[in-house]
Amino acid sequence: MQEEIRKEQEKVRDNATIYDILKLEHKDVKKLFKQILDEERFQESVYSQIKMALELHMAGEEKLLYSRLENNAESRSITLESYEEHDIGKKIINDIENTSDIDAKYAKVKVLSEAIDMHVKEEEDELFKKAKRVLSDEDERMIAKEFIDEKTSAMQKM
Ligand SMILES: [Fe+2]
Ligand SMILES: [Fe+2]
Repeated sequence: MQEEIRKEQEKVRDNATIYDILKLEHKDVKKLFKQILDEERFQESVYSQIKMALELHMAGEEKLLYSRLENNAESRSITLESYEEHDIGKKIINDIENTSDIDAKYAKVKVLSEAIDMHVKEEEDELFKKAKRVLSDEDERMIAKEFIDEKTSAMQKM
């Protein structure tokens, strides 16, 4: 996670937009899911990284990006859909915590991975496209900086 933040901070210094940062995180979490799916068994240590990455990512998106898009007619509907998809992800994460059967945990991680894949695709293909019409170039860079600061301070509180 420290490594991930370091990469993101570097990107922000290169003048990245919020979309660049979020896409980087989407790729990182996909790699983590792949580690579990390739082994075809639940691995607590990898799963806890996935959980932390997803929770920080979704919280940051909701607070800094979705909040700026949900009240604009152009981006409202896709943003409301995205909040719902986050809720599905959070529900599956909750179910995984409440399951002790290791095979059931694996099944749920697999379903979580599929749900996140679909959400990421919609986010990158549809939400980002609408967001680009609503946000200025300056906003897109400012939100990237805010996102990294938010994540760094959330991690310090852990
Ligand atoms: Fe995302
Ligand atoms: Fe998202």
